[in-house]
Amino acid sequence: MDRIKLSLVLLCVTTIVGLFVCVESRPQHNLPYENEELARIYMKDLDKKFSQALEETVNAQWIYNTNITDYNLEKMVEESQKYYKFQKTAWKDTILFKWEGFKDEFLKRQFKKLSVLGTAALEDDKLEKLSLLQAKMERTYSTATVCIRDKCNLALEPDLTRILASSRDYEELKEVWLKWRDAAGKPIRDQYIEVTKLGNEAATGNGFSDLSEMWLAPYESETFRDDVESLWNQLRPLYQKIHAYVRMKLRDIYGDKMPKDGTIPAHLLGNMWAQTWTSLLDDLKPFDKPSIDVTKKMQELNWDAEKMFQVSEEFFTSLGLIPMPPEFWEHSMLTKPKDRDVVCHASAWDFYNGKDFRIKQCTDVTTEQLITVHHEMGHVEYFLQYKNQPVVFRDGANPGYHESIGWPDTKLEDYLEA
Ligand SMILES: *[C@@H]1O[C@H](CO)[C@@H](O)[C@H](O)[C@H]1NC(C)=O
Ligand SMILES: [Zn+2]
Repeated sequence: MDRIKLSLVLLCVTTIVGLFVCVESRPQHNLPYENEELARIYMKDLDKKFSQALEETVNAQWIYNTNITDYNLEKMVEESQKYYKFQKTAWKDTILFKWEGFKDEFLKRQFKKLSVLGTAALEDDKLEKLSLLQAKMERTYSTATVCIRDKCNLALEPDLTRILASSRDYEELKEVWLKWRDAAGKPIRDQYIEVTKLGNEAATGNGFSDLSEMWLAPYESETFRDDVESLWNQLRPLYQKIHAYVRMKLRDIYGDKMPKDGTIPAHLLGNMWAQTWTSLLDDLKPFDKPSIDVTKKMQELNWDAEKMFQVSEEFFTSLGLIPMPPEFWEHSMLTKPKDRDVVCHASAWDFYNGKDFRIKQCTDVTTEQLITVHHEMGHVEYFLQYKNQPVVFRDGANPGYHESIGWPDTKLEDYLEA
């Protein structure tokens, strides 16, 4: 016994923020950064610090996103600087380890993920510039208002969204589409170009050829572009039929205003980005199928945002998934506040403390928004499933995966019978 004990040596490394960790080891493995046990202790410690650092920066983002002021912008940029700095230090420590030779795949993967620095690879002044630009773009985009005909101060949510969903006046829709882009898009053009440059610079700092390569890396497929192309080719025949059908239906409404080149003007699809066509459900339904647009029904029943989130939660718990925690109901922002500017674009938030999960949405009582409620709550369901994982794993298996989890097949018919 004693002989073995005597033959052990103490291996130590200094981790981020000066923490000193040591393990006993056999002398033949006496390079600390090759010692898997030591690496495990290091990673556990780093994980704790990472979640604290993330929680702080996410919290500052939440405050800005739900209350756009100069002060909150400054705080948010300050916090992201702190976070980037932490990331850089942690990265420098992490890459010292010779993790490729470790046996534990779980541990190896954490090292692998953390050895890609990402945006923080930029120099400090560029990081600050990037944070500021992003915050300002967000502000412009979120606070833009326009005048349509005799009404002014119209915001994207709810005013312009409502017009796009309900108006069938070609010229009015076009005016909304154009004016909102003039107000929200044109002023951020130069900033966007700047952000793109910085993004590409960060990517090359990580050994990627440009930002798009860095974005595709998490999919871990050498053939990702071809994979997508091949999926699209499978989908295209169906998409083209739907497109032609919708064009035909829209011709019934807009007549000769419809172009003859087989395209659909983006402002006619009921959504600012022509992204979902839900608002046209009744105009597009084939034959004499009953309507599945629940907007009127919800309004008749006096549903509000809270109720929409409750039925969404029931949907998920009926599948055996996890109810929203009390903190969700306490801290989420489910309607647009009247007393301040906010970023209305719906989003789901993980605060990385295992407790705090929130949604921010300027919920309007419409079918489209009911689907969005389910979508955002789908993200929270995913957060809840992986909340006990190490921080590096508290993310989608790949960036697309989160969106697919957050896209349950909402059965609108069920809500018509409510
Ligand atoms: C919004 O932020 C400001 C700080 O810029 C603060 O004084 C104010 O109380 C906040 N409002 C709300 C409703 O949180
Ligand atoms: Zn989403």
